Amino acid sequence: MEEPGLAYQWVLQLHSYLAYVALAVLFLAVANAIIGLVSNKMFLPQKDFRISLFALILCHLQLLVGLILFFVSPSGLNAIQSLGMGGMNSAARLLAVEHPFINIIALVLITIGWSRHKKFMEGNKKFKSIAIFYGLGLVLILSRIPWSQWF
Ligand code: HEM
Repeated sequence: MEEPGLAYQWVLQLHSYLAYVALAVLFLAVANAIIGLVSNKMFLPQKDFRISLFALILCHLQLLVGLILFFVSPSGLNAIQSLGMGGMNSAARLLAVEHPFINIIALVLITIGWSRHKKFMEGNKKFKSIAIFYGLGLVLILSRIPWSQWF
């Protein structure tokens, strides 16, 4: 086996650390939207718009780094090619298939939530769009994190 390259190690570290930031801000955006929704608040450009946009940007950055990682990591495309879909155990399948696939879907949902919220005028509907779509995205992401190798 070849030594893992420097580029791979660098991208893996970035993906690993950025995950904390992206998940924390995504969680804040979901919590903020749920609070705004249940307490009938106004959707404020300074606070609510910014936190939702910040979460969107960080998640997209993480997606981009993840896509690069998929191609440079021995546990990404490489694993699928060398072991074949049927030859992977559940841990290998989580890294190479489930985590990337589910996270791309999560990012699509988050992006839909963002575009939908902009179409509405009422704060309530804006909060609802963010709460539901970002919330679903967060649940999907959390369901396929390789927890045991992350910590
Ligand atoms: C957007 C939300 C995402 C989050 C929060 C996330 C988080 C993580 C975390 C915490 C790890 C473990 C890192 C470690 O071992 O230190 C990981 C590994 C990995 N991620 Fe993601 N990820 C996301 C999206 C993606 C996407 C979209 C892809 C690919 C298309 C991807 C590809 C990978 C791969 C291939 C690994 C395994 C790398 C290795 O161990 O060599 N990730 N991710």
